[in-house]
Amino acid sequence: MRDTSRLDDVLSCHVGVRPTRAAAIAASTLEIVSVLARWEVLGPDRTVLDIGCGTGRLDAALSPLSGAVIGIDISPGMIAQARTRCAGFPNVHVLLGSGHDLAGIADGSVDLVVLLDTLPCLLLSEGELARRYFAEIERALRAGGDVVILNFSYRGDPAADRVDLERLTQPLGLSLVRAVARPCASWDAPAFHLVKSGCSSVRPQ
Ligand SMILES: C[S@@+](CC[C@H](N)C(=O)[O-])C[C@H]1O[C@@H](n2cnc3c(N)ncnc32)[C@H](O)[C@@H]1O
Repeated sequence: MRDTSRLDDVLSCHVGVRPTRAAAIAASTLEIVSVLARWEVLGPDRTVLDIGCGTGRLDAALSPLSGAVIGIDISPGMIAQARTRCAGFPNVHVLLGSGHDLAGIADGSVDLVVLLDTLPCLLLSEGELARRYFAEIERALRAGGDVVILNFSYRGDPAADRVDLERLTQPLGLSLVRAVARPCASWDAPAFHLVKSGCSSVRPQ
């Protein structure tokens, strides 16, 4: 795992938090970060793009483990909250997106794209918006870069999700290397890990 000692520092800061809802979300966020670290997609040399960043909970948590983190969201309200939350993290940049592309993100400039509970929103328009976003993700990713998705849809059928995901991503040269039914104890979201072109070997959970 890259940067294990820094991850331990981050996790140890949160030990003993009162079991409020906010603390439960914070603990779940850190569990997601630990999954990303275990899957070796983080590192101080890596730029992470969080599509549908919401309030920026993941962006703040990823800051100490990443070179740069870019959060993008269609909602001005979410962006305002994310900017407040991430104000103390100089390597986090929060952008108001158009809702249909990644304008402002340079070609091949991103090492990891994360979509945490965002794809169900993008699939609402019968897949067309998701198709546009995946083309943009492929454009923004460097060769060999990673995509991690938690929750592709809310239909509760990870096998069907996998089929639909591969239909969207294979033509773009994004290869599925992991599909895990429930990588987090705190959240029942299935996860999918794809890699941009060339590297299609299935990886351990
Ligand atoms: C369920 S929330 C998840 C937020 C965040 N990823 C998290 O886990 O805390 C989905 C987010 O996707 C954003 N979103 C929905 N459609 C979008 C689009 N077309 N482009 C960018 N963001 C979008 C919403 O504004 C919302 O913040």
